[in-house]
Amino acid sequence: MSFDVTPTTDAAVDYAGLDASARALLDGESDRVANAANLSALVYHALPHVNWVGFYFFDGDELVVGPFQGKPACVRIPLVRGVCGAAARTRTTQRIADVHAVADHIACDADSRSEIVVPLVRDGELIGVFDLDSPVPNRFGDDDQAGLEAIAATFVASLR
Ligand code: SME
Repeated sequence: MSFDVTPTTDAAVDYAGLDASARALLDGESDRVANAANLSALVYHALPHVNWVGFYFFDGDELVVGPFQGKPACVRIPLVRGVCGAAARTRTTQRIADVHAVADHIACDADSRSEIVVPLVRDGELIGVFDLDSPVPNRFGDDDQAGLEAIAATFVASLR
């Protein structure tokens, strides 16, 4: 399957500016819920063509949904399941061009067609994942991955 529909270019998002906004938003605050909530809102409104942006936190056993923007989502995801589970388990960013092609994808919002999930790890400890869904196939490119990994790092660094 090919994806020739790319309505947004990587250049459309100023990730350096967005990370600067994220740093300003989180400055002096270390509360995990507050920072995840504000980052979800910041990124959701800054990126074109996303239908879900948010956090899952690891409770020591599985991933539990945290602050997000978008439609209500699956509450608990075992590490052995889904794209989020894979990101948490392998501690590597998962970029899925076509979620319909991934048998293990957990469909929370039927509109979702592509997804990127960045693991959140601090001092070797799994905190959770930062998850974005798009209704557009192949929405997330290399620049998106680098930019979103930087924002995820800003979040992790805010948790003192
Ligand atoms: N699609 C994810 C589940 C979370 S929702 O996208 C918000 C997955 O397969 O893990």
